[in-house]
Amino acid sequence: MTDATPNTRRDFLKTSSAAAIGAGLLGSLSRNAFAAGDETIKIGIVGCGGRGTGATSQALSTARDANETAGPVKLVAMGDAFADHLESKYTLLKTKFGDQVQVDDDHKFTGFDAYKKVIASDVDLVILATPPGFRPIHFEAAVAAGKNVFMEKPVAVDAPGIRKVLAAVKAAKEKDLKVGVGLQRHHQWHYMEALKRIHDGAIGDVLATRVYWNSGGVWDPRKTREECSGEMEYQMRNWYYYNWLCGDHINEQHIHNLDVGNWIQQDFPIECMGMGGREVRKDKKYGEIFDHFAVEYSYENGSKMFSQCRHQRGTKSDVNEFAHGTKGGASLDGNTLAELTGENAWSYGGRRAKRNDPYQTEHDDLFNAIRKNQPYNEGEYGAMSTLTAIMGRMAAYTGQVVTRKAALESEVDLMPENFAWDAMPKNLPNENGEYAIPIPGITKTI
Ligand SMILES: NC(=O)c1ccc[n+]([C@@H]2O[C@H](COP(=O)([O-])OP(=O)(O)OC[C@H]3O[C@@H](n4cnc5c(N)ncnc54)[C@H](O)[C@@H]3O)[C@@H](O)[C@H]2O)c1
Repeated sequence: MTDATPNTRRDFLKTSSAAAIGAGLLGSLSRNAFAAGDETIKIGIVGCGGRGTGATSQALSTARDANETAGPVKLVAMGDAFADHLESKYTLLKTKFGDQVQVDDDHKFTGFDAYKKVIASDVDLVILATPPGFRPIHFEAAVAAGKNVFMEKPVAVDAPGIRKVLAAVKAAKEKDLKVGVGLQRHHQWHYMEALKRIHDGAIGDVLATRVYWNSGGVWDPRKTREECSGEMEYQMRNWYYYNWLCGDHINEQHIHNLDVGNWIQQDFPIECMGMGGREVRKDKKYGEIFDHFAVEYSYENGSKMFSQCRHQRGTKSDVNEFAHGTKGGASLDGNTLAELTGENAWSYGGRRAKRNDPYQTEHDDLFNAIRKNQPYNEGEYGAMSTLTAIMGRMAAYTGQVVTRKAALESEVDLMPENFAWDAMPKNLPNENGEYAIPIPGITKTI
């Protein structure tokens, strides 16, 4: 560990540039509504799955004594498409957090409209953690209702969704609402330290980055067709494998690494080209998504980002980011945590170095901003990094060069016309239960 490595979170906040954005932009504005007579921040959750429960736990944990942002937090409303998901996660959270969880039966909402009811409850902040297809609709509604938001990444699956989110981000800023996005590397000490040095010129001009999420993949489909009431439930239960819900794994997962590439560049790519396909995960139960992508992105300053993501079991796992500059290189891998080479060589300190839990820190920072009424909005880079992933998907699906402008202006809307259990998604299987798979050279996505 170098002497610059922060020993405590408080030390770190003194030195980090990200803290200047997240916690240091002092606002002298009036307190938010939550504080009217009571310091309790009341939260509601939409999407009670793995991450929604995790994010709720972290939000509730901002109340713990040792935390400088501490203050009372209560969960008062929960919403999920499925009652079984909601009840199991309610029990889990109640067991863990006791009186901090005060969700009576009248504030447990299910179905497609659950988000409206959570947002209409007496909550100060909503956690949006459904599959990303719904995020633009839910985020727009939360901002319209004047709620602070923590929303998971990615924030959309298509261009109409991105445009909706960008408009709501603007509205949130105008209303002085706080918006956190679950790209937690922005709150992870070794990333913050390394990025600060890169932005200070430690590796010179960045010529290229390489970013990877190569792994064995995620969960297998959870329910069979026979176990579901129809096509809508089948796709919703197995959401990862359908683009209107997930946006493919380049969007759902690899966004983290693409976002680090953008953060390094302090910009978003202007165009990309790429390839991908479905080599191993071919069974019809895997819906319509690819199992590998390789995309080359170009930035306005001429630099490149080379990206790979793979979901193939038995292949080399690699979730990392690297940068190559005129004076040295940067590695943000799991071994050194962060290391710079060249003229200004530096290391965060390897596996034994002090780490933080970025999932917790992102909530500490958001709640700190709410309590102090400081500007806080991560929505724009959340949306633009999501667009980076979506344009990579468009390039790989079509085999064409895709510009950011064309991607952002695309009118292809993946979402169903209606949301109901007997409504139909747009992508339907053939009589054998097989979905159309994108074919480069034939498929059009813009
Ligand atoms: N930041 C991270 O590191 C990280 C890690 C995991 C997941 N995530 C993100 O969190 C989100 C959720 O992922 P997950 O792993 O928790 O999935 P999950 O399947 O465990 O949970 C999703 C939940 O949303 C519910 N849901 C679906 N549609 C809904 C709707 N219209 N209204 C209300 N509820 C609805 C589902 O029933 C389910 O309970 C995704 O966007 C994912 O990318 C982020």
